[in-house]
Amino acid sequence: MNESPRTLLPLIPKPVVVNQTVGLHTVDDDVEIFAEKQFDKMTKYLQEIFTEHFKIETTITNARKSRQQIVLERNDDPYLPEDGYVINNVSNVIHISSPTPQGIFYGIQTLRQLMSEKDGFWVLPKVIIRDYPRFSWRGFMLDEARHFMGKEVVKRLLEIMAFLKLNKFHWHLVDDQGWRIEIKRYPKLVEIGSRRKVLGKRGEQSLEVEPEVYGGHYSQEDIQEIVAFGQERFIDIIPEIEIPGHSSAAIAAYPKLSCKKTQSRVPIRWGIFKNIYCAGEKETYTFLENVLQEIMSLFPAKQVHIGGDEVLTANWKNCPACQKKIQEEGLEGVDDLQPFMTNYFAKFLKKNDRQLMGWSQIIHPKIPEDVLCQHWFGNKEEVMKFLRRGGKVVSSEMLSTYLDYPYTLISLKKAYEFDPVPAKLEEEYVTNILGIEAPLWTERVPNQKRLYYQVFPRLLAYAETAWTPEAQKNYKRFLKRLPAIMEKLEKLGVKVDYL
Ligand code: ACM
Ligand code: ZN
Repeated sequence: MNESPRTLLPLIPKPVVVNQTVGLHTVDDDVEIFAEKQFDKMTKYLQEIFTEHFKIETTITNARKSRQQIVLERNDDPYLPEDGYVINNVSNVIHISSPTPQGIFYGIQTLRQLMSEKDGFWVLPKVIIRDYPRFSWRGFMLDEARHFMGKEVVKRLLEIMAFLKLNKFHWHLVDDQGWRIEIKRYPKLVEIGSRRKVLGKRGEQSLEVEPEVYGGHYSQEDIQEIVAFGQERFIDIIPEIEIPGHSSAAIAAYPKLSCKKTQSRVPIRWGIFKNIYCAGEKETYTFLENVLQEIMSLFPAKQVHIGGDEVLTANWKNCPACQKKIQEEGLEGVDDLQPFMTNYFAKFLKKNDRQLMGWSQIIHPKIPEDVLCQHWFGNKEEVMKFLRRGGKVVSSEMLSTYLDYPYTLISLKKAYEFDPVPAKLEEEYVTNILGIEAPLWTERVPNQKRLYYQVFPRLLAYAETAWTPEAQKNYKRFLKRLPAIMEKLEKLGVKVDYL
């Protein structure tokens, strides 16, 4: 079957409307960039992209011309969503327009993907593209507790996310095997919590020989630098501080935070641990409030993720403080303690103008609709009820979106064909699904090379699902568009043998 020319444009995610006409623009050093005042800040970013990725030295100008210019301008079309954009370059000027800088930014990403080399020149097909996202939550999660990747790897990932129009970076900074963020009030969190002794038999679990002591953490200055880097790319960075489970690293640093209060070590094995925060002691709540205060001062994103998955309540059953809490609060038993804590921190965050986000297991009849649920596995009926009472959900369905899973379990095709809207969800609640997020857990991902192998090209499939209307998705055509984009990713440092 013949493909129409427009389907051959190498764009991922595929834009909503593409009209291609005949002809090409040549983009060279003669091209100038002009921006209307409100988009002034975008000119430097565009200029940098041209210099870094195309070796084209553009000039920023404040005079409009009728040729050889890229113009960033306002689009007043009331039907174009805030984060939408239009590219129109059928004349001698390349127009990118949007109601907002964010939309202009996405237009620039599309422009970047459209550029190709022909006879030693960079060329651009003549097109009119009108585009906007399907979902507002287009996310990727990185676990740095199991393996620490560091600032340069993270920045590179943020740049790639921007290129794919992803806008939420969920940063899993804390888990049993490591605490990776400096908290000034509690220095032992990194002094003790960010370091662990070698994992099991060397190489057995992590695919690679690790040093005797494995560790790493971000200083608050590092965090500020990365948050700013994300902001320049319209990526919100959502920190995750696990409460009340997956907290062994914090407890190794401050044993009084647990029910048993005995000294323990940062675990060297993967899995789920019983040693969790005591839900009864006031000290736990004070500690976590202080930690969250510092977290909020570092991360401007609306959401703070508190984990909430895989909570083993065994220690709570035998703890006098936890039992006392159950009595005082009129709770029915230990099963009510997690919802109690979730509500406590939901109120605390709300008071600070933030929103609590957590994994599926936070959802409970006693949890209000104004928290954000990340669905991964289990508790499905409760999550469906939550959606029907107005709660919002981000989908990270484990068997369809987990990037750490092997390709034999989640093939590229399966990744592409996943839809985050549950089939059983009634039409009126569909907008309660905010979007999709693909998590990478790193138990078996010790370095950047393995990370790229797990993430690419599957992240491109999720990026398309997050942006492109469901009715326009087509796996075969996606595969045709893929090689050109993978080639561009290779220029961004991503080297993988993907098919
Ligand atoms: C999870 O995978 N434990 C959220
Ligand atoms: Zn306790």
